[in-house]
Amino acid sequence: MLSASMLEKLNEQIRVEFESSNIYLQMSSWCAMNNYNGAADFLLRHSEEERQHMMKLFDYVNETGAMATVPALAQPKHEYESLLKLFEETLEHEKFVTSRINALVDSALTEKDFSTFNFLQWYVAEQHEEEHLFSDIVDKIKLIGMEGRGLFLIDKEIGKMGFEG
Ligand code: FEO
Repeated sequence: MLSASMLEKLNEQIRVEFESSNIYLQMSSWCAMNNYNGAADFLLRHSEEERQHMMKLFDYVNETGAMATVPALAQPKHEYESLLKLFEETLEHEKFVTSRINALVDSALTEKDFSTFNFLQWYVAEQHEEEHLFSDIVDKIKLIGMEGRGLFLIDKEIGKMGFEG
């Protein structure tokens, strides 16, 4: 059984994952509009992954007999300076999500809620993967550069990334 405080925190994480899904969906739209079709595909897939992260939490909360709540969501921003800036923002966003997961794990341990602690280990591993993935994309954009054919090549490369996630 979840404590009231843990339920509130898990519902808050549901909101964070749901907002992540919408942020990446909006980014995908910006990429499509700017003809970065590889990045648009990648971000669309990632938006769906974030929805799955949200649903996994949603199911867990309901399985405990408590009630998961559907949150109100903020509208994501929809202007970006460049493809590099956009992916730098994804990396910063994932670091933020990691900090939220770490705080949740800390609370579960402090409360001796070992079931939730165990459940959250999947998110700990996932955040490691996600930070690595987005950091890799930022590094690749910087390495290949956004001049001339570089941008075309990096977009194609991004389109192939993240299938395993
Ligand atoms: Fe579900 Fe990308 O964090």
